[in-house]
Amino acid sequence: MAFALLCALQSTSAFAETDKEIRQEPIFPIPLHSEVNTSKAELGERLFFDLRLSKNSELACSSCHQPDAGGDDNIASHHTINTPTIFNVKFNFRQNWDGSVKTLDEQIDLAVRNQHVFKNSWDDIIVTLSQDNELKNDFLEIYLDGITRQNIIDALVEFEKTLITPNSRFDKYLRYDDDALSAEEIEGYEIFKELGCISCHQGINVGGNLYQKFGVFYNYIAERGEIKKTDYGRMNATNRQMDAFVFKVPSLRNIAVTAPYLHDGSAETLEEAIIIMGRTQLGRTLTAEETQSIKAFLITLTGEYKNIPLDDPS
Ligand code: HEC
Ligand code: HEC
Repeated sequence: MAFALLCALQSTSAFAETDKEIRQEPIFPIPLHSEVNTSKAELGERLFFDLRLSKNSELACSSCHQPDAGGDDNIASHHTINTPTIFNVKFNFRQNWDGSVKTLDEQIDLAVRNQHVFKNSWDDIIVTLSQDNELKNDFLEIYLDGITRQNIIDALVEFEKTLITPNSRFDKYLRYDDDALSAEEIEGYEIFKELGCISCHQGINVGGNLYQKFGVFYNYIAERGEIKKTDYGRMNATNRQMDAFVFKVPSLRNIAVTAPYLHDGSAETLEEAIIIMGRTQLGRTLTAEETQSIKAFLITLTGEYKNIPLDDPS
């Protein structure tokens, strides 16, 4: 009886998974719950969809990072670089393709002032938002000093912490659900490890935790041509030649729903992206079977937001 109770408690406990509860693999599952201040996150969610953060109310964060479209905008290049998904950003060690931004706070400050994003100033945002009495009061209920730059950022970051996608089929497999994956999908994961994709794409975000050169074996960017400033990646932040074409290894979570791919959006399909990776990062021409198996595995990384799978068609 006592034993049965203990087991029941363990299986329902969502927090602090032990080594016994998850497979020992180089990829870790996304926690089923995130600890957030819900009133701040709710305020942040409203701001995320609020056009008034941008100059002339042209855009909201959600215009480019659409939570119901994989967290990105599904277009090749909004301005200079492909829009990454907003999901699971809190697990990245740095933000943006080149990893030049250290924190989510800093990322928001830059987005607000960037000429390609909100083209705005904090002074103007605060004046505009302060005309909204309801919003003003809602801020005052949480923050003593009301609508300020810091509090807007704080609420947005709190909301970003809720933008996680647990419960992918791959995470269920990691939690010992033996029916979660098909034989082909497991085979795809084995190939992903054997070939060495895993050496760069691993950890909780299947990426997002290190820098690597794009084009270790083969200069894809040179062949594509028309090299732009953004192609130089990390070199733009450090001015060191050795950082040319170095990028943050992107997360592969939800990759099936975030086409197009690569920092320049030049790969339209997942197959293309996989084949390019084989050539550029591993010096290999992948067979059609290898490509299909890896793709089958990558599709299992699609998780759930608000309990609905990101690839739910409805
Ligand atoms: C005009 C489209 C657009 C809007 C509006 C926009 N973003 Fe972005 N966002 C981008 C692009 C493009 C990048 C990649 C920039 C880069 O790597 O240089 C990005 C990057 C990010 C990242 C880093 C993700 C990663 O994986 O590295 C975060 C976080 C983010 N945006 C949050 C926000 C928030 C919060 C807002 C609203 C305050 C916002 N964005 C508004 C297009 C947009
Ligand atoms: C040496 C490190 C490294 C290895 C090995 C590697 N990748 Fe990548 N991967 C990267 C980097 C860096 C990028 C970003 C490239 C860019 O600038 O667009 C990337 C991008 C990707 C993307 C596109 C992500 C997006 O959001 O657009 C996919 C898909 C991908 N890799 C899959 C794979 C697969 C599959 C393998 C094995 C066949 C692999 N990678 C091997 C470093 C690596």
